[in-house]
Amino acid sequence: MKRMRRLRANETIRSLVRETRLSVDELVYPIFVIEGENIKNPVDSMPGIYQYSIDRLSEELDKIVSSGVKSILIFGIPKRKDEQGSGAYDENGITQRAIRFIKEYSPSLLVIADVCLCEYTSHGHCGLICSGEILNDETLPLLAKMSVSLARSGADMIAPSDMMDGRIGYIRKALDENGFVNIPIMSYSAKFASGYYSPFRDAAQSAPVFGDRRSYQMDYANGKEAIRECIADIEEGADIIMVKPALAFLDVIKEVSLTVNAPIAAYNVSGEYSMVKAAAQNDWIDEKRIVLENLIAIKRAGANIIITYHALDAAKWLNEQG
Ligand code: PBG
Ligand code: ZN
Repeated sequence: MKRMRRLRANETIRSLVRETRLSVDELVYPIFVIEGENIKNPVDSMPGIYQYSIDRLSEELDKIVSSGVKSILIFGIPKRKDEQGSGAYDENGITQRAIRFIKEYSPSLLVIADVCLCEYTSHGHCGLICSGEILNDETLPLLAKMSVSLARSGADMIAPSDMMDGRIGYIRKALDENGFVNIPIMSYSAKFASGYYSPFRDAAQSAPVFGDRRSYQMDYANGKEAIRECIADIEEGADIIMVKPALAFLDVIKEVSLTVNAPIAAYNVSGEYSMVKAAAQNDWIDEKRIVLENLIAIKRAGANIIITYHALDAAKWLNEQG
């Protein structure tokens, strides 16, 4: 008889034949930095996640470094917003100052800077607006300016999340012209218009004031289009491509990993995190088991890098397991 159970008899043999493993090295932890002083604001819809002002950030950085997580993704929340999102490319903007602080306080951390205007625009959209339309080509110079300014502040990697067409090539050129030829771009290539982002929009105060993002983010019904997005971004110079969200798009991660030859990041987004946290707080699920199962599923699908709000907890659990 074919006995599949032979290789399941005990943990030693199970771990011998285990196909997928997870390492702390592969995790990226998102952080939110807000303008102001002495702020540590809990994000209600994301238990365990806080907005920090720069003067309180060391507390968070100490936790990250001691967890063993080595990479962070930074989102800034400015005090003032305007139509052009000018805080995004201000040399003394919140994200620029936060990056300078992080690189001085925790130089070992790899700082990935999210590039998008939505936290900085009064209308909350990811691009410039004219008569209710989100402009593509007019937005590109601002994204490039933001990228160069974040690189100048010390960002180790640039991660454009805006979904304007042609942005990767445009940003790559601007980085190169300004001497940042060695700063990689991780592109949010297949970013879907998703209901799973709503807790993030509380955290980053970036919800659109009118309309939605469906004229620039992808339709969640489309899988093949994700491949075209990824290939286009690689041709334009992306070093790492991303699929976002992760858990409702495991098929897309798989397909991308079979088709496209580049490192793949998956963003285990805010809503995915909040659902797990809410169920865990009610004792309806075992948080550790569920989180590790979810993260392994994302890797098994083909991701090499996982951006997740669970990163610090997962690091602790992985270290316990040895
Ligand atoms: C904005 C941006 C979003 C996320 C990262 N960058 C959300 C959005 O498009 O509104 C989502 C992250 C998350 O939900 O955790 N460009
Ligand atoms: Zn945006």
